[in-house]
Amino acid sequence: MNAAPFSFFNLLGANPPICAFAPGDRDDGTPKDTALNVRAIHEFVVNLVDEAIAEAMNQCAAALPFGESELTRAGLHAAPSSVVKPPRIAEAPASLECVEWGTLQIGGNRVVIGLIKRIHLRDELFDVEKKRVRTEKLLTIGRMASPHWYCKTSERFEMIRPD
Ligand SMILES: Cc1cc2nc3c(=O)[nH]c(=O)nc-3n(C[C@H](O)[C@H](O)[C@H](O)COP(=O)(O)O)c2cc1C
Repeated sequence: MNAAPFSFFNLLGANPPICAFAPGDRDDGTPKDTALNVRAIHEFVVNLVDEAIAEAMNQCAAALPFGESELTRAGLHAAPSSVVKPPRIAEAPASLECVEWGTLQIGGNRVVIGLIKRIHLRDELFDVEKKRVRTEKLLTIGRMASPHWYCKTSERFEMIRPD
């Protein structure tokens, strides 16, 4: 199974829920495997990364031949998705099953825009009564300066918006 980290990723809207990520073309001008896969099947899964799987995420950045599983190499496991064909990563704290809405090509950037069709969240991360994500337990990591810097998100602060 193909898996690759993408820091050029964001949620872009809620109604409908959409997200985007941007695989840049390789130096020789060819698309990365992730871009090729989206072009072929028009579906993909975004797996969020927490501290527990940070190192495995990094392993997935290795350039393997098309068709060779980055997941196996990183010690991660595939779990079936609910509404899209590509599997999700079992160890991820949250996974977004997406259908490609469209892909923009801007120079060597491919901006893949996805409609989020299903969200998986590890049980402990969801407060069933309040119907809210327990964000204080969702310790996703953040990408800082390229190439090797990240941050933890365990230290947070609240700031109230002005009326
Ligand atoms: C933390 C991290 C973030 C990355 N973000 C991006 C990105 O936003 N866009 C990109 O093209 N490559 C990015 N890369 C590099 C890709 O993950 C790498 O080229 C990978 O081998 C592509 O795999 P693929 O050919 O299976 O798509 C990132 C690598 C790391 C470690």
